[in-house]
Amino acid sequence: MNQQMSSLPIPSQVIETLRSAGHVAVLTGAGVSAESNIPTFRDAQTGLWAKYSPEELATPQAFRRNPQLVWDWYAWRRELVSRADPNPGHFALVELAGLVPKLTLITQNVDGLHQRAGSDDVIELHGSITRIVCSSDRRVAETWSEAGETPPRCPDCDSYLRPDVVWFGEALPTQALHRAFQAAETCDLFLSVGTSALVHPAASLPFTALERRTPTIEINPDETPLTPHATFVLPGPSGQILPALVAGLKN
Ligand code: APR
Repeated sequence: MNQQMSSLPIPSQVIETLRSAGHVAVLTGAGVSAESNIPTFRDAQTGLWAKYSPEELATPQAFRRNPQLVWDWYAWRRELVSRADPNPGHFALVELAGLVPKLTLITQNVDGLHQRAGSDDVIELHGSITRIVCSSDRRVAETWSEAGETPPRCPDCDSYLRPDVVWFGEALPTQALHRAFQAAETCDLFLSVGTSALVHPAASLPFTALERRTPTIEINPDETPLTPHATFVLPGPSGQILPALVAGLKN
């Protein structure tokens, strides 16, 4: 039976569990970027994009059918992200990495905010909209022109360029997935932060930890399928809870 707890201050049991952890695995979702004013994946799309659902745009079929529409949606999201800043939750994870013996950061987010906050070796399960690749051989394009025809074309093979993200129906990057499950299988504390825990295989990671009786902490203002199973539930915004966790660890 997990213990629903007030989000702040952090109960001492949680701090002691964090303090005694040798390897902390962290899975983040769109909620960790919500306080950077980046709409979570399932929030309503705004403005021009309100009439589309992400599921209609983030697919290989949509890109084949209307490459310009899909490219323009991602260009809009890149613009949103470029105007956003990492929030205290992102920075708290950078600090946490320096306070525990080992931290593995796994994210479903494609906004690159963990890296901009200073996290390194981030496992990006769903890729990154900040990287553009050739749609034919997936090699990263260092430069591309936003003027003229969109999507721009690969300078080497003339195929369309595309964002380096995992679309619905596409396989996740095998190495990232392997590393993520390896961390879930070997860590001694798992944090699930700002994810609806709905989309597999990422959503299986906390359950992989729980199967090994690894303490699992969920940080989310709302309930998710993980909530009834988590060892500790800290209901609230990660931009407040993660800094409070770090502050408790440092005391
Ligand atoms: N702090 C923490 N969690 C928050 C906050 C916040 N400030 N604000 C919202 N949340 C929670 C929501 O309650 C929700 O449970 O973040 C979660 C966001 O869920 P989704 O929008 O489903 O995003 P995510 O879990 O990352 O989706 C997983 O699904 O659609 C695919 O590829 C897409 O990467 C995405 C994946």
